Amino acid sequence: MRNIMKVYLLESPGRIARAVLEQIKETLSEIENPVLGLATGSTPLRLYGEMIRDYNNGGFSYKKVRTINLDEYVGLDGSHPQSYRYFMNENLFDHIDIKKENTFVPNGVAKDLDAECQRYSKLVSDNPPDIQILGIGSNGHIAFNEPGSSFDSTTRVVDLTENTIKDNSRFFDSIDEVPKQAISMGIKDIMKAKSIILIATGTSKAKALRRMLTEHYAEDSPASVLQMHKNVTIYADESAAHLIPEAF
Ligand code: F6R
Repeated sequence: MRNIMKVYLLESPGRIARAVLEQIKETLSEIENPVLGLATGSTPLRLYGEMIRDYNNGGFSYKKVRTINLDEYVGLDGSHPQSYRYFMNENLFDHIDIKKENTFVPNGVAKDLDAECQRYSKLVSDNPPDIQILGIGSNGHIAFNEPGSSFDSTTRVVDLTENTIKDNSRFFDSIDEVPKQAISMGIKDIMKAKSIILIATGTSKAKALRRMLTEHYAEDSPASVLQMHKNVTIYADESAAHLIPEAF
């Protein structure tokens, strides 16, 4: 069964970040010990900037918030500048009043990666995010669930596609330095979130956004699984939304 997804088309990534922040504050402030699912990459950077600005202006406090991130590169520990743990500390956690012990990112250097994946999947099941923030890959991936990933997948080690390695090489000195594997929350894990906000900005996301919204859900478009979630809000800018038919 397909559910209704709310789609907001806003004029700029800045407007989107402010609108998402308002939705986060409104939802989390009604919950005693809220859980916020977070993503890395370029897309949520403005949102994290807005969260920090709001916090510095006496806004929302994160003292009672726990966060769960989607993924981490295999082989990079938290002190590596390209690791997702480092990214989260640098771009958000070090600038708000969240307790670091309440922030969860998979351990990409765990000795037993399978055990780490099982532990992480259980963490998500036991603490389903009240809101999960998602970006979308230009090939429609969510977290590192690449096209073809099973909708039943849980947290696991995944091989990154050439397309994703190329997309992510902009953060590394050379493409050879991009890790070839990551620990990724599975699609089934992501669907456990009580609500999901997906942000899509820029023309490189246009095809993936059209596919996930306008065609039948199928595993060739991991993001299309969201058609089956009960509470999804999509925020897109004009460049990401320009291929969506007007009648939609
Ligand atoms: C990051 C993540 C990825 C990104 C996606 C888009 O934690 O899970 O799925 O959301 O690759 O990346 P950007 O935002 O850099 O375009």
